[in-house]
Amino acid sequence: MSDIVLRPCTRDEYHEFFREYEPDPMMDPHPYRYQRTHVDHCFDFDEMRKSDSPIFGIFENGRIVGTLSLSRMDHLAHKCEIGIVLQHDGCKNRGIGTKAMKLGLELAVGQYNMCHIWADTMGHNKRMQHVLEKLGFELRETICGVYDLPSGKEDRLVYCWEVQA
Ligand SMILES: CC(C)(COP(=O)(O)OP(=O)(O)OC[C@H]1O[C@@H](n2cnc3c(N)ncnc32)[C@H](O)[C@@H]1OP(=O)(O)O)[C@@H](O)C(=O)NCCC(=O)NCCS
Repeated sequence: MSDIVLRPCTRDEYHEFFREYEPDPMMDPHPYRYQRTHVDHCFDFDEMRKSDSPIFGIFENGRIVGTLSLSRMDHLAHKCEIGIVLQHDGCKNRGIGTKAMKLGLELAVGQYNMCHIWADTMGHNKRMQHVLEKLGFELRETICGVYDLPSGKEDRLVYCWEVQA
């Protein structure tokens, strides 16, 4: 397994991620067109809200291959949400997502003192469900038909991972 690291990314690395980004057809059937100005705005926006919703680059052997977010951090309730996206199919199914999610959980607990970490995914995203369940997330709720996709309505599955007492 190659070396996987999670760390904040620079503006240039953020651009590098989006320059080669291809949406997963399972999540978004529309092609993505890289636009430098738009990506700049997104980077500025992410920077602005990084105190409660930090975003990290996922690096494989020094090259950015994905992003992982810890969002809506609630420091009183010690809870947040975790989200992940890899750059394109060439990065997927090689163990990177599982390793990055493990690092994300460690970061959420160790650096931000979070105890309850929520994640959600779509009913047909069996790969993400498998990754979440492998890492010890529990399915807490299924909200039927909330996503409107060209292929039809999709369920939202809500998972939670908790620090063991
Ligand atoms: C979901 C995602 C983060 C997973 O990362 P990844 O690096 O591709 O996943 P990994 O290689 O670490 O693990 C995939 C696991 O799912 C399994 N898997 C793959 N396709 C599957 C399917 N259709 N059904 C069930 N399991 C599947 C693999 O066998 C592997 O399991 P194993 O490690 O027990 O052998 C990544 O594919 C991705 O970015 N997808 C697009 C965006 C997305 O779906 N984000 C999550 C939105 S909520």
